[in-house]
Amino acid sequence: MSYEVRGVVARSKKAPVTVESILVPEPGAGEALVKVQACGVCHTDLHYREGGINDDFPFLLGHEAAGVVEAVGPDVTSVAPGDFVVLNWRAVCGECRSCRRGRPWYCFATHNASQKMTLEDGTVLSPALGIGAFAEKTLVAAGQCTPVDRRARPEVAGLLGCGVMAGLGAAMLTGEVSRGDSVAIFGCGGVGCAAIAGAVLAGATTVIGVDIDPRKLELAKSFGATAVVDAGTEDVVESVRALTGGFGADVCIEAVGNRKVFEQAFYARDLAGTVVQVGVPTPEMRLELPMIELFGRGGRIAPSWYGDCLPSRDFPMLVDLYLEGRLDLDRFVSETIGLDEVEEALHRMERGEVLRSVVVLGS
Ligand SMILES: NC(=O)c1ccc[n+]([C@@H]2O[C@H](COP(=O)([O-])OP(=O)(O)OC[C@H]3O[C@@H](n4cnc5c(N)ncnc54)[C@H](O)[C@@H]3O)[C@@H](O)[C@H]2O)c1
Ligand SMILES: [Zn+2]
Ligand SMILES: [Zn+2]
Repeated sequence: MSYEVRGVVARSKKAPVTVESILVPEPGAGEALVKVQACGVCHTDLHYREGGINDDFPFLLGHEAAGVVEAVGPDVTSVAPGDFVVLNWRAVCGECRSCRRGRPWYCFATHNASQKMTLEDGTVLSPALGIGAFAEKTLVAAGQCTPVDRRARPEVAGLLGCGVMAGLGAAMLTGEVSRGDSVAIFGCGGVGCAAIAGAVLAGATTVIGVDIDPRKLELAKSFGATAVVDAGTEDVVESVRALTGGFGADVCIEAVGNRKVFEQAFYARDLAGTVVQVGVPTPEMRLELPMIELFGRGGRIAPSWYGDCLPSRDFPMLVDLYLEGRLDLDRFVSETIGLDEVEEALHRMERGEVLRSVVVLGS
């Protein structure tokens, strides 16, 4: 048996998304059926629609979600119907070479549901990041469900499922920001503002937000940036150096997915500093750097997959910090919308009008 529900589908490259009837199978072995309560609109959904990730159209979009487990496959013990969960897109396998070496956050064989969700005519859907949560129900691997404290509102808890976790983790986990560090964040959208919040939580004393959009610079300040740089009018590298005693920042976080911005982050960093790459590049982007600059500056260039998070460890902890009033997740929610407003929300994101539009599907 399968369930017929409404979902937001990107049928072909650059075409507007549409709300379609989709068929979601009953959960089989290792799977969970989740009633989605809220799902944020992330820039990666736009990358999918633009064909920037791959060409496996049609996509079922949405991947930043929270909801309630409705049913589980016969062998599933990690979650049960009724659990309030945040969906994650890296369900660690526990068995691959990385998991076996004690580094599950890099898991090379993460799990998704094995059964496919389809359109009514049987066309198989590719769920964004193996989730597909702009839908009333979705089917995922049980390990993609991370139970958290149900007192958190779904529209904020769900944000931890992607962009906010990626940003917090880029600072706290990949960048290993610690007390007294100077940190520069390039791109102050949902991911970048979360990186700012993460740098503040980790004890950075200088936190610099860089963006081309003055509205984003104001948001950066509201998340705790101690200074901002307008990349539209200033020499970014010089400004970051000037704000860090002439040296550059200890940690520079690229949260745009842009070659020029990555280069700015590379050169705006102090000797032995770290560049964190959390913005997702498109396949055609190329980087050209003199090798002597790489060697001579030392330090690290660290790509950050999902903020190097371990959902089972980090989601409940961050929800607890939120409930204790120590991490402002509410501020990320610019607006709540319905399923049929996703296309417009993608445009609002492109125009820089929102940090996060969150689709709310009721509880
Ligand atoms: N690594 C991961 O696991 C992961 C997870 C989620 C999202 N992402 C990626 O992170 C990136 C940001 O996502 P988002 O949801 O915050 O997007 P967003 O659109 O909300 O934010 C992007 C920001 O970059 C700014 N910007 C654009 N050009 C700039 C420039 N030249 N200099 C400075 N700022 C500039 C924009 O004004 C905007 O504020 C995307 O590439 C997204 O795919 C990565
Ligand atoms: Zn693994
Ligand atoms: Zn995302």
